[in-house]
Amino acid sequence: MSSVEDMAIAEAKRILQNSYSPYSGFKVGASLVSVDDRIFAGTNVENSSYGLTICAERAALTRAVSEGIREFKLLVLVSEGNKCILPCGACLQVLSEFCQDLKIISITDSGETKLTTLKEIFPAGFRL
Ligand code: THU
Repeated sequence: MSSVEDMAIAEAKRILQNSYSPYSGFKVGASLVSVDDRIFAGTNVENSSYGLTICAERAALTRAVSEGIREFKLLVLVSEGNKCILPCGACLQVLSEFCQDLKIISITDSGETKLTTLKEIFPAGFRL
């Protein structure tokens, strides 16, 4: 039986295939694991008005929050190429609204892996 981490990786890889990224050609898959081990995945959705693009992380988060889930422990990112990505500034801020202790695993389809935490890469987000 797979661990929830393995399942989240598989889910991020699966959903990356649905990436709508005709402008950048850069596919991203994200899955968020809630504290009660539910997995919500999302992919990037681009737009011809480029600035309206939604990143995979925010796509995953809005799916989860729409289902009433607000506490998360793990974010998995999968991208193509050989460089592990980290969430953009906008996604860091949006994630920090809901995630205090979030582990981040970023992997590429060429086999690179990076481990970090939201606290490490975004220690002082804005809060009202
Ligand atoms: N992108 C994400 O989905 N997540 C990230 O962490 C970084 C960037 C997307 C946005 C855009 O569709 C493409 O990658 C290139 O920037």
